[in-house]
Amino acid sequence: MAAFDTLRWRNGIFEMLDQRALPHRCVYVAFDSAQAVADAIRSMIVRGAPAIGCAAAYGIALEARRLQNRSREDFVSGMERAFEALAASRPTAVNLFWALERMRARMNARKEAASDEIAGALLDEARAIDAEDVRLNRLMGSHGSALLKDGARVLTHCNAGALATAGHGTALGVIRSAVEAGKRINVIVDETRPFLQGARLTAWELQQDDIPVTLIADNAAGFLMGRGEIDAVIVGADRVAANGDVANKIGTYSIAVLARRHAIPFYVACPLSTIDRTVASGADIPIEERPPEEVTGFGTTRWAPPEVGVRNPVFDVTPAELVTALITEKGVTREPDQRKIEQLFAK
Ligand code: MRU
Repeated sequence: MAAFDTLRWRNGIFEMLDQRALPHRCVYVAFDSAQAVADAIRSMIVRGAPAIGCAAAYGIALEARRLQNRSREDFVSGMERAFEALAASRPTAVNLFWALERMRARMNARKEAASDEIAGALLDEARAIDAEDVRLNRLMGSHGSALLKDGARVLTHCNAGALATAGHGTALGVIRSAVEAGKRINVIVDETRPFLQGARLTAWELQQDDIPVTLIADNAAGFLMGRGEIDAVIVGADRVAANGDVANKIGTYSIAVLARRHAIPFYVACPLSTIDRTVASGADIPIEERPPEEVTGFGTTRWAPPEVGVRNPVFDVTPAELVTALITEKGVTREPDQRKIEQLFAK
């Protein structure tokens, strides 16, 4: 288990680790409303598809608790606004919408109950989503770790670790499980421009667990592959379409193309809650574009000329044909396609 909590419910208070401050400061922020959680998702205090889903679930539970003593009318309309605010926080990670749907179903199942009872049920549901995420990550880890050989040098992109989930991680969960099984894994992580999730978060997270990690510039991946210094690639996902196309952090597609060119296996680890069978292919996945300031500099430092035109799409789509295998809680699916994905849900 990772040595920190990404989100935690303790003594009646919900807190999240402020990922904007990492790796320099480890600061927890407390939340008491859905709007505050929605703002935290948008501003990247919390990020990573499963963690965003868990945070949204707690956001709904907090809002119900905040409104439970108001009139019934205020409670119902306030909860509706809470769902809307959270759904508008970020568009790509489908776990957000999956978690909100699950919370809505739990709320609707108690429609006739008193508001405080509904609030209690919603908190139970949020805590169940949180606990389930860790359990599924561990299952993915045990399925996926068999794919990594002792001594493997594994490239990962962005952060698909404990910081991106309720614990253990998806892509990093597979690596953690392999390490727990006694394998020596060397992780190579790229910086992940522009928000530097690789340099700031994955490097820090792996150091906390004493897992060997080497940081490279994004542009160095092809060079290292060409030199035979990378044995496998493993990444997470924000949304997988019905046909197996994978939306993940911008730059994933380039790595997948490079991996194919160099005959290196390219693995994607994600829970079934990341698979969206309502979108036929990656072309239908909404891709978030974030503010230009993330590209023209970082923090208070600016390196691009003022007024330069900027594009900042923060996810891209890797076609299913470039994915060697999908690792989910149901097992390892080689060469994923629509039929195999349907079978996964039927399992
Ligand atoms: O913009 P982010 O940091 O939320 O993007 C995160 C990613 O792209 C992760 O790879 C993905 O959410 C999987 S996390 C287990």
